[in-house]
Amino acid sequence: MAVIHNGIIENFQRLRTELEQSGVVLESETDTEIVAHLIAHILPELNNDLPKAMQSVCSRLEGAFTLVVIDRDQPDLVVGARRNSPLVVGLGTDGNFLASDVAAFVEHTKDALELGQDQIVILRADSVEVTDFSGNPVEPKPFTIDWDTSAAEKGGHDLFMLKEIYEQPKAVKDSLLGRIDESHRITLDELNIDPLVLREINKVIVVACGTAAHAGMLAKYAIEHWTHLPVDVELASEFRYRDPIVGPDALVIAISQSGETMDTLMALRYAKEQGARTLAICNTVGSTIPRESDAVIYTYAGPEIAVASTKAFLTQITATYLVGLFLAQVRGSMFEDEIRSVLADLNDMSQKVDLVLDTAEPVRALARELANARSVLFLGRHVGYPVALEGALKLKELAYMHAEGFPAGELKHGPIALIEEGIPVVVIVPSPRGRAVLHDKIVSNIQEVRARGALVIAIAEEGDESIVPFADHIIRIPAVPTLMQPLVAVVPLQIFACEMATVKGHDVDQPRNLAKSVTVE
Ligand code: G6P
Repeated sequence: MAVIHNGIIENFQRLRTELEQSGVVLESETDTEIVAHLIAHILPELNNDLPKAMQSVCSRLEGAFTLVVIDRDQPDLVVGARRNSPLVVGLGTDGNFLASDVAAFVEHTKDALELGQDQIVILRADSVEVTDFSGNPVEPKPFTIDWDTSAAEKGGHDLFMLKEIYEQPKAVKDSLLGRIDESHRITLDELNIDPLVLREINKVIVVACGTAAHAGMLAKYAIEHWTHLPVDVELASEFRYRDPIVGPDALVIAISQSGETMDTLMALRYAKEQGARTLAICNTVGSTIPRESDAVIYTYAGPEIAVASTKAFLTQITATYLVGLFLAQVRGSMFEDEIRSVLADLNDMSQKVDLVLDTAEPVRALARELANARSVLFLGRHVGYPVALEGALKLKELAYMHAEGFPAGELKHGPIALIEEGIPVVVIVPSPRGRAVLHDKIVSNIQEVRARGALVIAIAEEGDESIVPFADHIIRIPAVPTLMQPLVAVVPLQIFACEMATVKGHDVDQPRNLAKSVTVE
């Protein structure tokens, strides 16, 4: 018998003791092994009926899990089960598929079935049956995967990550498609929350993890600026374990590329229980988070295969900005011409990101030069701060280097003690045309770290000459309005981390210890 298991079985100690008392010798400490034994134990009693054995065992399991089981003596049969963790079925012409994400089988078929909670799937080469945990038949929901097959290929690039970085201009553009009408108003038809309700909410709470949480932080700057609504951004894993003030007056936005991140899902469920309106910003059609939300805005990044998120991040920013502008439109907190002007800026971003990609060679050269650095610090202010966090996260994820992102103003409260001779410090420089004070302050911060020996790499806009005397290296990005800057400023940081990891010989698309969707808490 072979078992594949994704998730955590929370009552496994109890089940383990029970198995040991009945004489079973376990060879590992894993919760997965007990499933194999539980099934093997009960199978003969059930006339070797593997689906029935799966039903019986699943009914006893607590926690979140996807299980797939095969029995050596019934090689034409695969039985899968899901509770909370993802599992989808692919319907092929000469065989069927089970995977946690459609990306795994999209090159073979685009016809798929959604499985619900607590369901069991009985798969043979020519048949698929679905039941609940009690064996009652269930009609699964069919859907068609609308990616083209090239999504699962590298399209001339060596790495999925590089391909996805280069797809960013299109991803941003696609995420705006159909959402701005001819009179330059935002039409979010999918957002089936009554405008009246949107007028009455008193706060916005964003829950997300990892890169999506950085997009959420950026949403705060934009949405507060445009709507004057307070926006809290919370790491989903922290949200429900304190006592967050969330009720019917809150709009809770869950941002997730995969739509399956367990912490985000749990935060969303908690918010729903408290009566909040929920909105998912998600890249994966049919995944759990959008299914359980009141409304969903899909990001049209296309499938993201590399573990480290890139194009999804840019589309998450785009989508949250659209939501912010839509709230401003509905609530009348901005003039229509102001909204039009921001939308025009957002529309231009695809082309601006393209420009950054065209001029990325110096970033790669710099990454090669700094490959032996022990640690890299990233500093930013205002919207540059989440960008700094994202730059550091990319470097940790891919190059396995110590990297930290800080708000530049916090330097003097600790991080400055880390500055030693030669340490690379990447600084995201705000536009001098935005709030001049932010620019001036960051120049002072640069001087502070430089005076202590740091090697300063400034990410600064074209035409900002005032930075030249203070930086050792300058990476130029197009001059764009302040709130748009993250969309261009993060791109060199993605390329920097990707190149650094490549130079070090790491597997960029599948970094060690990380998963694309984290379906456990
Ligand atoms: C994992 C991935 C990250 C991602 C995070 C949130 O940690 O490796 O790249 O940002 O999960 O994922 P989500 O699918 O919810 O956006």
